[in-house]
Amino acid sequence: MNVGNRHYRSIWPLAAADGRRAVGIVDQTRLPIEFVTVELETWTQVRTAIASMQVRGAPLIGVAAAYGLALAMREDDSDAALARGFADLLAARPTAVNLRWALERMQTLLRQTPRGQRAERAWAEAGRIAEEDVACNRAIGGHGAALIAGMQRSVRRTLNILTHCNAGWIATVDFGTALSAIYQAFDAGIDLHVWVDETRPRNQGLLTAWELGAHGVPHTLIVDNAGGHLMRQGAVDLVLVGADRVTRHGDVCNKIGTYLKAVAARDNNVPFYAAVPSTTIDWTIADADAEIEIELRGADEVRSVAGRGADGHAATVAIADARTPVLNPAFDVTPARLLSGIITERGVAAANALANLFSESKRACARATI
Ligand code: MRU
Repeated sequence: MNVGNRHYRSIWPLAAADGRRAVGIVDQTRLPIEFVTVELETWTQVRTAIASMQVRGAPLIGVAAAYGLALAMREDDSDAALARGFADLLAARPTAVNLRWALERMQTLLRQTPRGQRAERAWAEAGRIAEEDVACNRAIGGHGAALIAGMQRSVRRTLNILTHCNAGWIATVDFGTALSAIYQAFDAGIDLHVWVDETRPRNQGLLTAWELGAHGVPHTLIVDNAGGHLMRQGAVDLVLVGADRVTRHGDVCNKIGTYLKAVAARDNNVPFYAAVPSTTIDWTIADADAEIEIELRGADEVRSVAGRGADGHAATVAIADARTPVLNPAFDVTPARLLSGIITERGVAAANALANLFSESKRACARATI
């Protein structure tokens, strides 16, 4: 997507003439105050970037981890280094399954690849994973835009869509998932407006507002608690979110606060959809509450807010006593029964009928778990 007049992806490979490799990223901890790009030259830098949320969003952390493992193979392409890189990158963040999916795909390939060839093959495979993500998001956007267009035709006025967190281009390699649908609908001339949840404590909604603003999409930033009120007022026609992990039965694990929006949507007969690439579906699990590790992040994220200081630079301000006890779960689970459907790269399905779109994944998983 464009920033100013220049096209950016959220991650890109860098290859120097002398053979050195690195990946470029947009440092998301600085957005939307500053647009800063960073070059990561080692796999440990990639791991730190994932853990610190310089790169974030389920699809993007998977692609970043794949490049991380490729950088690890350049340092040392032994089996031991492969195992260490896999384990350490996997531990960077626990909830989004895309991280594990990408690392397992890399590991499978590299185990079949003789030493000496691993670094190059890993680099190429990470690039393929990145390109597939872009194609997948474009397809999700097409299916989602058709859904949005149909809803707008039936309301015959501006369609109001509420979104939570950031499921935009910056959370993927390009286009986004939920926002890909919104971009494609908007580009096709559909009359729409987006309510953007702020998404405390990391305020990913500010990234969403920044993205939508750059694309010219009408939007309004709201505090996280406003969505239910707006639904009762009839000011929300559709809730559209991304996801970090979806069970085979269609339960959706996404940014903390998603569940409350789904409950309010059900109470107000507002359709609630998640836009999800197949890389976010975890066919190995059936019980989200029992089997998904919900990331618990640090207390300082809750006790402070980040913004622009009086000097115009990024600043963090304490808003609670440093000794205030804090609990900071980063994700929650929305049960399939609260979803109107799930939008994937293969089309839209009822949440509990995802397997109809991905029968080969389900079969492969059943074989693997026998
Ligand atoms: O903690 P984050 O910012 O990595 O969480 C991201 C989300 O929860 C997104 O909504 C989700 O990954 C979908 S991204 C296409």
